Amino acid sequence: MNALRVLSVASECFPLVKTGGLADVVGALPAALAAESVAVRTLVPGYPGVIAKVGKADPLHAFDDLFGGPARILAAHAAGLDLLVLDAPHLYARAGGPYSDPQGRDWADNPQRFAALCWAAAEIGRGALPGWRPDVVHAHDWQAGLVPAYLHYGGRPRPGTVFTVHNLAFQGQCDASLLAALRLPPEAWGLDGVEYYGAIGTLKAGLRLSDRITTVSPTYAREIATPAEGMGLDGLLRARAGVLHGILNGIDEVAWNPAADPHLAASFDAEHPEGREANRSALRARMGLEDAPEALVIGVVTRLTGQKGMDLLLEALPVLLGHGMRLALLGAGEPGLEAGFLAAAAAHPGRIGVQIGYDEALAHLIQGGCDALLVPSRFEPCGLTQLCALRYGALPVVARVGGLADTVIDANEAALAMKVATGLQFAPTTAPVLESALARLAALWQDRATWAATQANALHAPVGWARSAARYAAVYRELSGAG
Ligand code: ADP
Ligand code: GLC
Repeated sequence: MNALRVLSVASECFPLVKTGGLADVVGALPAALAAESVAVRTLVPGYPGVIAKVGKADPLHAFDDLFGGPARILAAHAAGLDLLVLDAPHLYARAGGPYSDPQGRDWADNPQRFAALCWAAAEIGRGALPGWRPDVVHAHDWQAGLVPAYLHYGGRPRPGTVFTVHNLAFQGQCDASLLAALRLPPEAWGLDGVEYYGAIGTLKAGLRLSDRITTVSPTYAREIATPAEGMGLDGLLRARAGVLHGILNGIDEVAWNPAADPHLAASFDAEHPEGREANRSALRARMGLEDAPEALVIGVVTRLTGQKGMDLLLEALPVLLGHGMRLALLGAGEPGLEAGFLAAAAAHPGRIGVQIGYDEALAHLIQGGCDALLVPSRFEPCGLTQLCALRYGALPVVARVGGLADTVIDANEAALAMKVATGLQFAPTTAPVLESALARLAALWQDRATWAATQANALHAPVGWARSAARYAAVYRELSGAG
């Protein structure tokens, strides 16, 4: 089998730049695909942090004017990734996040910043790089949504295109007047093109103009084709059902390995989970929780947003505390939620520990030290934290939506009888139902034998990329005519 060449295009890639699970997926998939004879090169924007981390890089291609200034495509290797970095100082050389300024406001020129990434990807797709032309271009989320558009309107021959939607809620819309400035041809304006409710929709463009669409779990693939969950795009997704695949995310089992995790106080594995005890103690100390070894510690690692149901958790805190449970929460996001959790921690010292911010090391310690990880999302395309929890022996307590429904086996009577339960699920995502789930969790905690058996199942659950990498490879091969 010849190695297939794939260009992956994304605005984030772990460990170079990350705001969420998109980065984890883009960073982990190439290694898994290598085992399927797929050679991936990953194109990312040259944010200052990325340029600093890649070190030595070779210029492969130059643009005299890429949306307002000169730019180069650099080749580099870092963290096991074969990278292409779009060095465009007029677009990316700024302090702040990938999408916003230091005050958290979206950059006004985001349409141009990400159109440039897409334009460069399309040029690479057409053979701009010496000696390397991809068979397939795989674009992720709205930031890369114009990749299929540029390739579609540029005519054939062209590589096949795959567009993965990680979250339908972020649609990347911009003003219709930018059509020409974004180098889109007049014929792109229309229902079958980039037009979306009178604006340019970059997510819509990706969904409409790619050869194949994937999303990050089978359940989310079904949900987004319904008016209730389709966020205005369900009609388009139903029309394209024949090319839409739900392929479950995995996690990087090297980065998330409790047997060799530098962020843990003690290592452990599925056969010897005893090391969790030292991590529980370390986590309690780190989060300022009372030294009460019998109290169940609930962990949360999340963006603090409505999607993640964090307002419902705030509502359910009295019930959580009523069961004698402790909470260790790490998150950042909406100011109202940050303030709400900080106030709860101040009101219940020793019982609620909160850290606001992004902290990779603490995320690992929470997974290795909490007893149960709570993910009460209103919607969740896949979710990665529940997969990390399984691998680290923290029982996931999840809303039955999207990828959460696909990855956790609820400890119902049938699953317990079959000895396959790995956690708890609840639905719908409301505060009273979350409270009932906490009651079920408290009862399970009292039944230590069943708890230990469920934890053992969790620790053995498959959470890696192998199965899903084979599915992506099959999509690529079919597209490239090599299927
Ligand atoms: P989403 O991408 O919607 O935020 P996922 O569960 O897919 O949700 O991925 C979130 C990723 O970001 C996980 O790797 C998780 O560990 C990490 N993460 C989220 N919030 C934080 C935080 N405050 N500090 C450190 N890591 C975080
Ligand atoms: C998005 C989704 C999350 C998913 C991640 C990676 O951020 O919100 O559910 O796991 O992308 O695909």
